[in-house]
Amino acid sequence: MNKVDYDNLIPNNVDLSSDRRLQKALEKWHPGYIDWWKQMGPDGFQDIDVYLRTAVSVDQEGWAKFGYVKMPEYRWGILLAPQEEGRKIGFGQHIGEPVWQEVPGEYRAMLRRLIVIQGDTEPASVEQQRYLGHTAPSLYDMRNVFQVNVEEGRHLWAMVYLLHKYFGRDGRDEAEDLLMRRSGDKDTPRILGAFNEETPDWLSFFMFTTFTDRDSKMQLEALANSGFDPLARTTRFMLTEEGHHMFVGRTGVERVIRRACELIKENGIHDPSDVGAIRGLGVVDLPTLQKKINFHYSVTLDLFGAEISTNASNAFNASLKGRFREFSIMDDHLLHDSTYPVLKNIDGKFVKVHEPAINAVNGRLCDDYIDDCEQVMTTWNRVIKEYGIDYKLSLPHRAFNRKLGEFSDTYATPSGEIISADEWQSCQGEWLPDNDDLHYLLSLMQQVIEPGKYANWISPPRTGINGQSGDFEYVRIAA
Ligand SMILES: [Fe+2]
Ligand SMILES: [Fe+2]
Repeated sequence: MNKVDYDNLIPNNVDLSSDRRLQKALEKWHPGYIDWWKQMGPDGFQDIDVYLRTAVSVDQEGWAKFGYVKMPEYRWGILLAPQEEGRKIGFGQHIGEPVWQEVPGEYRAMLRRLIVIQGDTEPASVEQQRYLGHTAPSLYDMRNVFQVNVEEGRHLWAMVYLLHKYFGRDGRDEAEDLLMRRSGDKDTPRILGAFNEETPDWLSFFMFTTFTDRDSKMQLEALANSGFDPLARTTRFMLTEEGHHMFVGRTGVERVIRRACELIKENGIHDPSDVGAIRGLGVVDLPTLQKKINFHYSVTLDLFGAEISTNASNAFNASLKGRFREFSIMDDHLLHDSTYPVLKNIDGKFVKVHEPAINAVNGRLCDDYIDDCEQVMTTWNRVIKEYGIDYKLSLPHRAFNRKLGEFSDTYATPSGEIISADEWQSCQGEWLPDNDDLHYLLSLMQQVIEPGKYANWISPPRTGINGQSGDFEYVRIAA
């Protein structure tokens, strides 16, 4: 059942028409979703044709087709990766048992919570990014943010399907609530901190899709081996879409760096830290990029939760949420007797402490995330090097600017020196974007809508979407 049924109001590959009750329930949720999209989705671009990809199957190859669509008419659907015959649970206390097709009663609350937390992040990012179309640096970029937005909308559908199908009345209530909360709202905020931050400019968007969508990747990877098979299959397909979101982020920042380096060279600026001179050229200076990395990375690390976590340990033990690439880890996948090194601040020094591995699954997921981010930094630094500029971007120390977990009470510099609260107060402006920086970034944000043209602060991409030419009209903004 890899093909998607598009005859239905709700496209799906789960044979929805054979389950009348579920179909009815989802059809009832549908108008509320469309209202939410029109109210909270991309502002001012609802009636415009956008060159978007839509999933047509869940096959590895060729699962998407491209074409012009008005966003409210996008065919959001329910897509699960194919069921694997005879799949067995691969970790936790149920290891070796056949995967579950129904929710085990004893894990109902825990599983529902995992799904709601994941589900809540999806509409949140759409809300955070809703004004970006007005300042898009090109039609290519505008199309990309809209593509990310419709797919986050689809991810919401994915989680809502699970809630409706497997959690009865309380699942339906949770699905309603997912449309009620609002990013940044003081009375009904989204559940997780980073999803209540603003995304006021395009550099923030690129940083968000680099770092925060990468957290989503890690969470989805951990859920993709769940013993609850429908969750595993849903998240496996979501991961294929997540790849594009991270691509938009990584290459977006890369293009910002490339443009800055190009102009630094052309104008014979010798000091890459000369913020004033570089800003005079109308591009993003490298020290500001570093501050943005410091901010987005540290805020995203908090999304992993405490390194030592009973919730995470319970979810692992219950065979609901595994580790990153669980099946390539060479251990017993039970973690009853093993330990894992967790970095801590002990009496003012960073020390690795061996903790029971089962308690440290969050800490481990965080480590895997950091490795992934390091690879991104390597690709960004390669561009700076290409231009022969002596400057290196880096990830800040994991204790830097943390609100949650082992380092929530630690004040640390980006290079990992422990400092006092007073020192933190007086220096944080050097490490995190201040109002001046944010104003400068906003001042660069001017909409460019001529096909093939790009704002001065960003380079064109290497290739077009779906092999399209450089002057392709990704969004049809008729004058
Ligand atoms: Fe998502
Ligand atoms: Fe995403």
